[in-house]
Amino acid sequence: MAQANMGLIGVGTMGSALALNIAENGYDVGLWNLDLAAVDNLIASAGDFASRLVKRESIQGLVETMPTPRAIILLVPAGAPVDLTIDELIPLLSVGDTIIDCGNSDFRDTISRTKRLEVEGLAYLGVGVSGGSEGARHGPSIMAGGTVATYASIAPVLEAISAQYLGDPCVAHLGPDGAGHFVKTVHNGIEYADMQMIAEVYGLLRDGAGLAASEIAPVFRSWNRGALESYLIEVTAEVLAAKDPITGEEMVDMIVDQAGQKGTGRWTVIEAIRMGQTASIIEAAVGARVLSSEKATREIAAPLLMPAGIDTMVPISEHDLQSALIVGRVLAYAQGFRILDAASEEFDWSLDFARIAEIWRAGCIIRSTILDDIAAAFRTELPQGRLILSEHFIKVLTKNIAGLRRVVSAAALKGLPVPALAAALSWFDTIRQARGTTDLTQAQRDYFGAHSFHRIDEGGSHHGPWHGPKDA
Ligand code: 6PG
Repeated sequence: MAQANMGLIGVGTMGSALALNIAENGYDVGLWNLDLAAVDNLIASAGDFASRLVKRESIQGLVETMPTPRAIILLVPAGAPVDLTIDELIPLLSVGDTIIDCGNSDFRDTISRTKRLEVEGLAYLGVGVSGGSEGARHGPSIMAGGTVATYASIAPVLEAISAQYLGDPCVAHLGPDGAGHFVKTVHNGIEYADMQMIAEVYGLLRDGAGLAASEIAPVFRSWNRGALESYLIEVTAEVLAAKDPITGEEMVDMIVDQAGQKGTGRWTVIEAIRMGQTASIIEAAVGARVLSSEKATREIAAPLLMPAGIDTMVPISEHDLQSALIVGRVLAYAQGFRILDAASEEFDWSLDFARIAEIWRAGCIIRSTILDDIAAAFRTELPQGRLILSEHFIKVLTKNIAGLRRVVSAAALKGLPVPALAAALSWFDTIRQARGTTDLTQAQRDYFGAHSFHRIDEGGSHHGPWHGPKDA
């Protein structure tokens, strides 16, 4: 298959970075953007790579000047802008051309766009790109979905621009149509969970131990040299150490505590629930961002809702906080891979969990040392996504769970919120409970709705001695 010629639409932060990365790797790229000044700025600042970047005055001009087969990358905001751009491209493209959506699109949109383009004889790749603008510029982690043949036509470019982990490009073809964007969505769900648990630990050190941000920074810096080594812990240490250039105060103290979100964390939770899965740690993280936006209510509630039973003196050790983050991180990944497992089954994607863990080891936002262990666990012992049952992670969880237990207990006594860490602990205690409490739930369902239950000593469906359904 001939290698495609490259075009790129959407020269924002991510688009500019990706264009420079592609050019640096020896490919010419035609560029178009709604505001053409952005293309001029990019080329003016591209230095040695400027000669490989070519401005086009219109989408039509971009398409007409590209030899076939064409591969046109979209880096426009997810949603309607992607559809509008596709609408414009369809009449201009030729059979065999490919559109590559590198934004954070909803995988359901990617599935329907793929079908729509197939009818026109055009190919579509839904590609998740992680690593922020730095990653896009110097090597992101790339999660691709589409046909094998379409992926093959663009694979050399994607392999060249992706991050490398010990020489292994962090890019993979993960399955058809929406598979790549789904995996990127779950990546972001795990990202939300990890960020939230880090924020909770920061909160315990700030409000529980009374430390200043610059005193907390070295704690995260030291954790980054151990089992928690990861991009997000590294970033946390740097952010906490930063001073506000305007006031000289700790930078983080000058930032309003209201977190934004663009949707991928929420989509992870929605899809998990749709498939009958639980993503409680990720849900807690999404919920924490939602509640953060209720700043006005929180300010009114603060003096009014002073709970009884607060024990500000209960101690929390740094060692326990580290353990709590280790367990929380492992369990967030475990939930993420269970969602991927369910989706693989539901959409018949045959996702390769080991490969997914491998391509997350460099370039992406959730890159961390434990991904190497996760990849090894999936490669060697676990055919399907039950990470907590791997020999390695049983040891990690057993070693650190007491720390998480003490942290969650102490946070409750101090009256400090740790929704994601508490969700992690509850999930752990539920999944390891051979006899749970839904025997009672089943009895209630049978009592008021004659839903029946299974007996432990006999097959078939049964009813209890409460004489059939009663009015609810
Ligand atoms: C990445 C990031 C990136 C971005 C997301 C999340 O993998 O590079 O996940 O895609 O940070 O858009 O953004 P929100 O926090 O705004 O939802």
